[in-house]
Amino acid sequence: MITTSTPGKLYLAGEYAVVENGNPAIIAAVNRFVTVTIAKNQERCSITSKQYENHRVHWERVNSRMIVDDRDNPFQYIIAAIQVTEDYVQALGKPIQKYHLSVNSELDSGTGKKYGLGSSAAVTVATIKALCELYQLKLSKVQLFKLAAIAHFNVQGNGSLGDVASSVFGGLITYSSFDRQWLAEFRDKIALPELLKLEWPRLEITPLQIPSVLRFLVGWTGSPASTSRLIDKVELKKGKHGSQYERFLHESNKCVREITNGFRQNNSKLIMQNINRNRELLQSLSTLAGVTIETPQLTKLIEIADHFGGAAKTSGAGGGDCGIVLIEANCDITGLQAAWQRAGIEPLNLAIYNYEGES
Ligand code: MEV
Repeated sequence: MITTSTPGKLYLAGEYAVVENGNPAIIAAVNRFVTVTIAKNQERCSITSKQYENHRVHWERVNSRMIVDDRDNPFQYIIAAIQVTEDYVQALGKPIQKYHLSVNSELDSGTGKKYGLGSSAAVTVATIKALCELYQLKLSKVQLFKLAAIAHFNVQGNGSLGDVASSVFGGLITYSSFDRQWLAEFRDKIALPELLKLEWPRLEITPLQIPSVLRFLVGWTGSPASTSRLIDKVELKKGKHGSQYERFLHESNKCVREITNGFRQNNSKLIMQNINRNRELLQSLSTLAGVTIETPQLTKLIEIADHFGGAAKTSGAGGGDCGIVLIEANCDITGLQAAWQRAGIEPLNLAIYNYEGES
């Protein structure tokens, strides 16, 4: 039996801008996990997930492609992760095995709703890590990221892949997205083992630390949002407002730079100022693109946090899901969370998750 767990994530700053190549975001991995277990030596290959009442999907490999015997299966990210990893295994000349893969996710609420903590990225990464153990593949973290990014991109077809980086690296990172046009052009022309060894243009991942005087709080609005649809809507509108969009990118990058400096210099004031600034920028993007990033419930969450002295904003695509707050440790955090609860916002007891002892 093989078991691997990978963390979910939250964006602190730079979301949407990070979808453009080379633009940075700050992302935190959090201590809620997707766990993948592999039982080896089975008669047939199959997947089950607790979140889908142990719905079972079988597959087989025909001429190196996976044939899945359920067209409505909810396991697209897992299947893409298996396909890409086993392509890699075959390229190395190793034999393919038969196994049962089961998934359990803490990134969905008990009522079956997603929290917006990057569950599709976490399940992609957890699946690939488990398969790396099964096939005894020795991948560096950057290579694991690249394999998971290819699998995730094959399904979603948009997005920065920052969620994938956060699940792979853990902790708090700045992430600059690589050139996905480049990947689309080269992924079928270069053998996978070579593609993983190449430098991917513009990809940058750097670890950061939160100053110890700051606390990181998360509130959940209870309403789920579709990240890929929101990204598509922004993509559609950005060309119409070229110069305003360029300005958004420029200002967002400046915010990420200032927050990163704040983290490095232990300057909580600078960090909080720029969290607030990033909120304003996302509000302006929302107007420009005609999409709702900050829902009324997220506005309530932010205003309550502001009242208690925190700097708060939407996290990731917005449109529901979670809001994040950075607040000094000596503020009334219990009072803030109680006020959230009275307003129908659920405080999530999350902390930044660092992988220990893994290279
Ligand atoms: C979603 O979690 C964050 C966005 O920046 C999209 C992405 O980076 O893929 C909105």
